[in-house]
Amino acid sequence: MAGFFVSVEGVDGSGKSGMARRLGDWLHEKSIAVVSTREPGGSAGAERIRELLLGSGGILDPLAEALLFAAARADHVRKLIVPTLEAGGVVVSDRFSDSTIAYQGAGSTVDMAVIQQLQQIAVGEHRPDLVIVLDVDPAISMERARKRNGDAGVKDDRFEVEGLAFHARVREGFLRQAATDRSRYVVIDASRTPDEVWGDVRRAVRDALLKNGMELTNSLSLAPLPSPR
Ligand code: TYD
Repeated sequence: MAGFFVSVEGVDGSGKSGMARRLGDWLHEKSIAVVSTREPGGSAGAERIRELLLGSGGILDPLAEALLFAAARADHVRKLIVPTLEAGGVVVSDRFSDSTIAYQGAGSTVDMAVIQQLQQIAVGEHRPDLVIVLDVDPAISMERARKRNGDAGVKDDRFEVEGLAFHARVREGFLRQAATDRSRYVVIDASRTPDEVWGDVRRAVRDALLKNGMELTNSLSLAPLPSPR
């Protein structure tokens, strides 16, 4: 497949959504055909499952949750990610499989073999070429998230619902995944300023694209790409 697939991962409040946005904008400025997307969601069907998942208020069993994240992912992969890669485009996804491994597997302790099997079914060979893990101590990211959300965000605050110990396990889950394959994963210290973190994100993506034979100065593909969501 000609395109390139990057996912941006990290605990809540790691700044991942902002970095994913910046990355999409930067690639676009470099005339790269890029589709920015997110999980859960990214396709019309997966966005419906997102509403279900994020509106469930914690009533779902973690295994049922993992199955729904995988169902959303299967739709997202088939409807948006694969067509974009086949057209030669770059996909930037705010979260992907590693979030299920970290949250449902390491955080909620669903059997890791089951989680891995689900990824195999939903994603198969279409795993990301590059996974950026924005690593930060959850005690720091919790403060950040609270500052950002203000009092209005407290009722939806995942830190409030799950606690710091859960998020510490999630963080370890991401780091363990990264340690399994240093050629595809880049761990970036996200406790620093956004500009410092962005410098490392940009460098990691530029290097990975070059390794993949993509020049940032040239237009990759002028064919219209599938529109996100
Ligand atoms: P997201 O929309 O990325 O929210 P935020 O930007 O605030 O982190 O993700 C929503 C929540 O869904 C987040 O707490 C992480 C969780 N999540 C899982 O538990 N498993 C998954 O597979 C995915 C994709 C997300």
